[in-house]
Amino acid sequence: MSTPSTISPAPGPAIHVQGLEKSFKQLTVLRGVDFEVARGSIFALLGSNGAGKTTVVKILSTLLKADAGTARVNGLDVGTRAAEVRESISLTGQFAAVDEILSGRENLVLVARLRHLTDPGAVADDLLRRFSLTEAASRRVATYSGGMRRRLDIAMSLIGTPPVIFLDEPTTGLDPEARIEVWQAVKKLAESGTTVLLTTQYLDEAEQLADRIAILHEGRIIVNGTLDELRQLLPPAEVEYVEKQPTLEDVFLTLVGAKTDKEQR
Ligand SMILES: Nc1ncnc2c1ncn2[C@@H]1O[C@H](COP(=O)(O)OP(=O)(O)O)[C@@H](O)[C@H]1O
Ligand SMILES: [Mg+2]
Repeated sequence: MSTPSTISPAPGPAIHVQGLEKSFKQLTVLRGVDFEVARGSIFALLGSNGAGKTTVVKILSTLLKADAGTARVNGLDVGTRAAEVRESISLTGQFAAVDEILSGRENLVLVARLRHLTDPGAVADDLLRRFSLTEAASRRVATYSGGMRRRLDIAMSLIGTPPVIFLDEPTTGLDPEARIEVWQAVKKLAESGTTVLLTTQYLDEAEQLADRIAILHEGRIIVNGTLDELRQLLPPAEVEYVEKQPTLEDVFLTLVGAKTDKEQR
């Protein structure tokens, strides 16, 4: 039985998106979205609520068809090679999909069995260790904190070691401590070579985690770069006694505000 881990990475970027368009009846959500995600990097798709982040993730994970444009994941076209794309990715949504009655370890073993892996127990123990859940392994998930659940959810999505993982708003609804736990887990993921595309509406999350940040606004990527590159889009901070670097929030609000002003003219 082949497992997703047998898929060797194709050359080129892990994710390539060009001219992506999507409307729901009268509502145009994506008006030509372009970006690339390098292998082993963390890419944040940043945008306000309703900007179309989940729509992009659903197209990339083959749950939704684009109206126009192309998208390749792991070198595979999402439209024509959907089954292979699904084997090379994992998707973790905003709401945890873990079974509350089972223990953390039982949840992991169950999924490893469903994926026909040879040693489900060893796979589970390895993931429990990587996500700092070994001590809580035999406790029912119902007793877990929000951060522990989300970590377990991400761990479950990694069974079979997909090379590309989509995290749709991984920390929405979590308390500050739990967010930091999830951030650490995501950083470790990228260090192990997994490509991570995450969506977020939190500027600090993108700032903390991402190698590159793309801002999705009114159906397009209005800016795409490293945090330093984004900061340079603003005039340099005035030096008085203390130099203050613009935060990502300053950049976001300036760009989104500027764009909206221009379109209203
Ligand atoms: N299946 C759908 N049918 C109709 N409208 C949708 C559907 N999915 C999303 N939308 C709308 O598309 C817009 C973008 O949604 P979404 O991609 O979920 O945004 P985000 O994830 O950035 O918050 C929203 O206005 C949303 O209401
Ligand atoms: Mg969403």
